[in-house]
Amino acid sequence: MCGIVGYAGARDALPVLSDGLKNLEYRGYDSAGVALCEGGAPTVYKTVGEVDDLRAVLPDASEATVGVGHTRWSTHGEPTDANAHPHTDCTGDVAVVHNGIIDNYDDLKAELEADGHAFASETDTEVVPHLVEAELADGASPADAFAAAVARIEGSFALAMVVDGTDAIYLARQDSPLCVGHGDGETFVGSDVTAFLEHAREVTYLENGDVAVVTADELVVEHDGERVERPVEQVEWEADAAEKGGYEHYMLKEIHEQPRALRQTLSGRIDALEGEVDLDVDLPREYLNSLEEVQFVACGTSYHAGLYAANLVEEHADVRATVHVASEYQFRGGRDPWRTLVVAVTQSGETAETLAALREADRTGARTLAVTNVVGSSVTRLADENLYIRAGPEIGVAATKTFVSQVTSLALLAVHVGRERDELTPTEASDLLEDARGLPGAVQRVLDADAQVRAVAEAYADSDAFFFIGRALGHSVALESALKLKEISYDHAEGFPAGELKHGPLALVTDDTPVVAVLTGGARAAETVNSVKEVESRGAPVVGLCTDGIGEKFVDDALAVPDLGAMSPLVANVYAQLFAYHVANLKGRAIDKPRNLAKSVTVE
Ligand code: G6P
Repeated sequence: MCGIVGYAGARDALPVLSDGLKNLEYRGYDSAGVALCEGGAPTVYKTVGEVDDLRAVLPDASEATVGVGHTRWSTHGEPTDANAHPHTDCTGDVAVVHNGIIDNYDDLKAELEADGHAFASETDTEVVPHLVEAELADGASPADAFAAAVARIEGSFALAMVVDGTDAIYLARQDSPLCVGHGDGETFVGSDVTAFLEHAREVTYLENGDVAVVTADELVVEHDGERVERPVEQVEWEADAAEKGGYEHYMLKEIHEQPRALRQTLSGRIDALEGEVDLDVDLPREYLNSLEEVQFVACGTSYHAGLYAANLVEEHADVRATVHVASEYQFRGGRDPWRTLVVAVTQSGETAETLAALREADRTGARTLAVTNVVGSSVTRLADENLYIRAGPEIGVAATKTFVSQVTSLALLAVHVGRERDELTPTEASDLLEDARGLPGAVQRVLDADAQVRAVAEAYADSDAFFFIGRALGHSVALESALKLKEISYDHAEGFPAGELKHGPLALVTDDTPVVAVLTGGARAAETVNSVKEVESRGAPVVGLCTDGIGEKFVDDALAVPDLGAMSPLVANVYAQLFAYHVANLKGRAIDKPRNLAKSVTVE
């Protein structure tokens, strides 16, 4: 997700903003910019690329004592100079930086354009300065204009605005973090404390729904139009810990970011009441109705997301769905490209084998769709259509939040294809979308049970072989769970379709091989219970990831999975992420950078 920094004080704002952006670089970015208030309209400098690229176009010093800065991680619009933040209104008097997604920007943009506003970017953010401009033109004060603009936008946002003629920064927060650092006669703003940690350690965290104004020595917060006080907290973390949000590892931070990542994935895309999905991909109804096969191509964790998705597509869209390890794709024949949609699933968008498979699909003439986290990545330039998972940057090598966002995006795709092929009624689609909408809350409940997962991990961490079993959607989760554990703990871990155990793997089961069973809705839990009994009779301890009432009494340790229909196995996967994390941590492994592995593998 993007990074925000702001400064209001007495010294030159430019180096403070520039250093703040540098501190935020760890989050990943594709462009950066600042707006400086030097008396008169804010001066904006911005560019695609790294903070060092921005520094190359910045002056050495400025007269500004107030300003805001931004590092962008694209969700709307390619990484370009024009799409970089800050964004301004028609007059150039208002400059805004934004993290998050404005769901209703299309409607607002149309309305503003009809009123004569000219837009310079493809971003959702740009509606904000134009909304403020319209309010200012009607005579509102900057604070009122900002509050009125914020009241009109829907979605998730952390906003920071500067305006000609004021020495204040105007802030708003909804589902995207924003904090204020209190210095001596100066105030700092950050999307997280790393933006200003070397200057201020007394911090106020804004809450959802807050609108605030900061000046050099004052923070005024309003909530629902009423003035409120927010506590000032002392931050003890050092910079390295702060980058990890106080978590010991990026992986753990990213596991805990999943509710937010999921909200971003879903934002503005579903109408659960009507059973409608809007994915902004050009897959016409006639084409989807002519489809005979959907092929998913991917590697590693993304392959497991493809397996989950194939199951959903076959069930809800009634079309054959196959999943291919990307490096094997070229060795397979029997394609009818005209009736095949090839979906490349890759969080980085740069995995060489996935790109090669996509080129091969393209060569045969198949229509292609990329499902990725990185706007402007190589895969997006190769594919006909792109669906962004919007998980925000992931730093830990072991994929966590990108997996849940991939599966969720693909579930929406399955609903879309099912609706267009008339295989899903609006009511059925509505039920599925309600389940998807429940994901952030359900995942949060799993995260809240972390102490219980840690206790289970402690009980089994001495084992050096683990098995994961599941059926149907639970099978893909069993494979992903085993991959997570082996990647970061270096223990032998394998996932199996539960029914396959008796055809070989059962020979490996002993009282020292814990078995984790996916016993949720959507995972044929009743049948998997039979497999649980098979391994228990060989002495293996069993950890059950159980939806209410299924399987608890047959397992040694039950972890409760909220019932979310076809999304339940995905929620169960979050337990497996935590389990893998704690086992690896107890063994002292290099969790964020496991041996021999890379985040993105760009060679075949
Ligand atoms: C590497 C990573 C895995 C990842 C795989 C595919 O092997 O270590 O975590 O799942 O690449 O990456 P992609 O970016 O294509 O999803």
